[in-house]
Amino acid sequence: MRAPRNGNGCDVLVIGGGIIGLVTAWRAAQRGLRTVVADPGPGGGAASVAAGMLAAVTELHYGEQTLLGLNVASAARYPAFAAELEEASGQEIGFRACGTLAVALDSDDRAHLRELHALQRRSGLESEWLTGRECRRLEPMLAPGVRGGLRVDGDHQVDPRRLAAALLTACERAGVVFHRAWAERLTVTHGRATGAVLAGGTGLRADQVVLAAGSLSGRLAGLPEEIVPPVRPVKGQVLRLTVPPAYAPFLSRTVRAVVRGSHLYLVPRENGELVVGATSEELGWDTTVTAGGVYELLRDAHELMPGITELPLTETRAGLRPASPDNAPLLGPTALPGLHLATGHHRNGVLLTPVTGEVMAHVLTTGELPEVGRAFTPGRFTPPTSAAPVRQEQPA
Ligand code: GLY
Repeated sequence: MRAPRNGNGCDVLVIGGGIIGLVTAWRAAQRGLRTVVADPGPGGGAASVAAGMLAAVTELHYGEQTLLGLNVASAARYPAFAAELEEASGQEIGFRACGTLAVALDSDDRAHLRELHALQRRSGLESEWLTGRECRRLEPMLAPGVRGGLRVDGDHQVDPRRLAAALLTACERAGVVFHRAWAERLTVTHGRATGAVLAGGTGLRADQVVLAAGSLSGRLAGLPEEIVPPVRPVKGQVLRLTVPPAYAPFLSRTVRAVVRGSHLYLVPRENGELVVGATSEELGWDTTVTAGGVYELLRDAHELMPGITELPLTETRAGLRPASPDNAPLLGPTALPGLHLATGHHRNGVLLTPVTGEVMAHVLTTGELPEVGRAFTPGRFTPPTSAAPVRQEQPA
């Protein structure tokens, strides 16, 4: 660890202290970079709502083959990443190698799942088709009407709240400095990002700035127009229930389904928490929990697993996924020298945390994206005519 600079200068300023900003800061500090994070509530953000599925295989979508490569790479890193982070923080993160069962309730769902299975096989992924009876043998709480399913033993889970808390501690132990305030304006000096001004007026200077503010990344003032990341919020409502000891084990693995076109998942933690998600709503920065959202999740969950209505409902929350136009993250240098992005992780922020930390540390120490991250350059959304380095100047 290097000593902090005098005044408000550092090597790396990370704007946003969600899990993506924190993993970037942790990895940067491990490489000897003096690192500062600006966020009023580090460890919060979308991860404090997320269920924590590491679903590279079961959340595969058509047209996302490039993203699949990154998802699989990050899933493979999870066991070692979890062990290293737990050692560095002294905290458990709830990594659970439990596997996932994706099931179908009617013939439309079954056809959808059959197609997913075919796509998984074409993509070289491991999954096994099961009959309804075989699904219920694995998970006896499933409804008798389940028509079939896919057993994916490689899609695990982690507890995102514990992940965020451990990253926060690991950052602090590695010497990362936290400013508990929003970065309100990027500072651009002679065509280069040189820091930010925080709410309250404190100015921070940095050799490199990483914008990792999730769905808020496009709202930072001072970003040149052509640099503004094309990231939008996609709302997800999520429920948390508790499985009393008398009902345990309610589920032994993550169970997911598409019910009348809506994605549903149930993620059982070892501590008895059962997370049920999630809606997918394009409503801007609205995080209201609605009666309709809760109703639909519980209705679909009840159809899948009738016993769920016996469980205490302990929490309802809504979070905002930071979605990009191709659903993949934006990682690495922008056309504004000194400014990097680590945002746009959409449905896969928790899954992509290990590989994002690795990619961003490589970028911050070498200036280049490593092979695994090369396809995710923010430049893929920059129109060719404005691909030249940004020349806009602003006073420091
Ligand atoms: N990956 C789960 C979700 O976005 O709802």
